[in-house]
Amino acid sequence: MTPLQNDTFLRALLRQPVEYTPIWMMRQAGRYLPEYRATRAQAGGFMDLCKNTDFATEVTIQPLERFDLDAAILFSDILTVPDAMGLGLYFETGEGPKFTRPVQTEADVNALRVPDMSKLHYVFDAVSSIRKALNGRVPLIGFSGSPFTLACYMVEGGGSKEFRLIKTMMYSRPDLLHKILSINAQAVTDYLNTQIQHGAQAVQIFDTWGGVLSHAAFQEFSLRYIQQIINGLTREYDGRRVPVIVFTKGGGQWLEQMAECGADALGLDWTTSIAQARQRVGDKVALQGNFDPFALFGTPERIRAEAAQILADYGAGTGHVFNLGHGINQHANPEHAKILIDTVHELSRQYHQ
Ligand code: CP3
Repeated sequence: MTPLQNDTFLRALLRQPVEYTPIWMMRQAGRYLPEYRATRAQAGGFMDLCKNTDFATEVTIQPLERFDLDAAILFSDILTVPDAMGLGLYFETGEGPKFTRPVQTEADVNALRVPDMSKLHYVFDAVSSIRKALNGRVPLIGFSGSPFTLACYMVEGGGSKEFRLIKTMMYSRPDLLHKILSINAQAVTDYLNTQIQHGAQAVQIFDTWGGVLSHAAFQEFSLRYIQQIINGLTREYDGRRVPVIVFTKGGGQWLEQMAECGADALGLDWTTSIAQARQRVGDKVALQGNFDPFALFGTPERIRAEAAQILADYGAGTGHVFNLGHGINQHANPEHAKILIDTVHELSRQYHQ
């Protein structure tokens, strides 16, 4: 393998000195890019894109051809894992993901198993292929959903606004939800370790829905299982540490607890002050974030001002990976994304002297 030409992202995650603040964007490959829409039309459905090694590689690289990003993220989805469990993932146009066989009854829970990783070979093939295509340009991020976030989709049978079904299970049959979560934790551990073996150089756990839990339930039903995964992860591969990023959307109030979970970095959404977050976590973890994805809909001047504010709030020194506070919106203007990325590179050098 060619040595990494740009390891700024990995160094920032490990709080080692950097020359500027690295940046990548959650959902950086996606529908806001016309070239993504063109490849997607060629492939057919979204899962056809994920399952075809060449297409998955192509769309992963697309944002790197356009922008000066410091990391690539595997093109796939968090719901590949429950799909491999036999739940029957499908995407209805305009409606988001759905499962034909959700996990709702005690019998459903008892039938649930950790999937054989061979069912997910297309993901690992994509990781190998992307590493080859990157040729050391920037590091590749692997990812998975958190056990609780996956369980939300598995129990609800798709996206949800209120989470009525999973919360009903949590408050009436917590034993069933714990069973799902421990199977998910084992599956995610295997899944991320296999991504690492195939070349993922950092991994992110997306706890997109952890923030809908009550204060007490967050520890018991989400963080605890994330911690279990991290304990089982390969932390060094090919002579390098493989940093782990945990992103809980809406998790700003739990940063002290989260800083103890074994992660190298915590992702922040835009509602948290990154200055206060840095004080609260001290030197335990790096921070990633936290530009409001909808601020990309502002004027170029406003985008630059918002980015400058986040950089100033974090302040001097390493340990910051710039990102959006959640995925880029499909209607965002790619030119505005470029303004953000270039601004972060330009303005951040003063904080790393
Ligand atoms: O960040 C990246 O560029 C990597 C690719 C990536 C996708 N999904 C591609 C995708 C990643 C990291 C994800 C994670 C994911 N998937 C999460 C966690 C992150 C988050 O955003 O909170 C969740 C909750 C999912 C589940 C999922 N997949 C949903 C809710 C949807 C529909 C979203 C929508 O905007 O309609 C998907 C589909 C999906 N995953 C798309 C992409 C590019 C859009 C599919 C399309 O082309 O139509």
